[in-house]
Amino acid sequence: MTDTTTHQTDARTLADARALADRWNAQQTGYIRHRAERFDTIARVVAGVCADVAEPRILDLAGGPGSLAIEVLARVPGARAVVADKDPALLAIAADLAAGTGRFEVAEVDLADGGWAEHPLIAAAPFDAVVSSTALHWLQPGTLVDVYRRLATLVRPGGIVLNGDHLSYDAGHESVLAGIALADDEAMQRETFTGAVDTWDEWWRAVAETPRYAGAMERRAGVWGAELHEAPPKATLGLHLQALRSAGFRQTGTVWQYLDDHVLYAVR
Ligand SMILES: C[S@@+](CC[C@H](N)C(=O)[O-])C[C@H]1O[C@@H](n2cnc3c(N)ncnc32)[C@H](O)[C@@H]1O
Repeated sequence: MTDTTTHQTDARTLADARALADRWNAQQTGYIRHRAERFDTIARVVAGVCADVAEPRILDLAGGPGSLAIEVLARVPGARAVVADKDPALLAIAADLAAGTGRFEVAEVDLADGGWAEHPLIAAAPFDAVVSSTALHWLQPGTLVDVYRRLATLVRPGGIVLNGDHLSYDAGHESVLAGIALADDEAMQRETFTGAVDTWDEWWRAVAETPRYAGAMERRAGVWGAELHEAPPKATLGLHLQALRSAGFRQTGTVWQYLDDHVLYAVR
């Protein structure tokens, strides 16, 4: 388990982590045309919800190297965050970044494991906001429903969940927009991955070549196994919103959308 309370990072390590985080953000933006706008929207809504809270507490769910948490923290003064994720290598980078800011900690959890919310950093709820980006589509629909139910117990009344993710169109009954979204993704990737920006595989090669993360990369292979490449069945927008409502969130909807890229919100 990675824990930033005992985590030490020197200047060189921090610079390496920041360089990998910058490369991660560029790489992810290649796959998500308006990722920066999506993040900015989430951060602004969190700031609004936390306007009267002295020390807001944020949970970044499946937060990877912590990019979204860092963006939210930049917009919400006095806030602190927990970045929860399953991937030891992404969390090792997040932990180095966290040691540089002192404003967030990392929790290694598998959201498909029913006990994830018992991690001490998460069990110390309530949170004012739970945010997530480009991640929950990796959960089986049944697990997603369970995660939303659990979030209703972790967020304070009046607090919010914000989930930014691709909710892909149905190729059958939404074929026109499915085709436009696919063409848009392909065009964005052609524009981005011309050599200067890492693809997903190139970025992971860069991590593998960084000695600091060798141990985490070794653990990564064991943690994921074959599951790393298996995409679960799609969860529709309707499923997300229904699951959030039935979990007990009283206001739900879409706060931002570009084609199939959505930011959903749920107020407890
Ligand atoms: C594409 S990355 C997005 C990371 C980050 N939210 C961002 O936007 O930069 C997807 C993340 O979901 C995490 N993830 C996928 N399945 C998970 C699970 N079952 N439990 C926890 N994290 C998971 C991965 O480890 C990875 O960090």
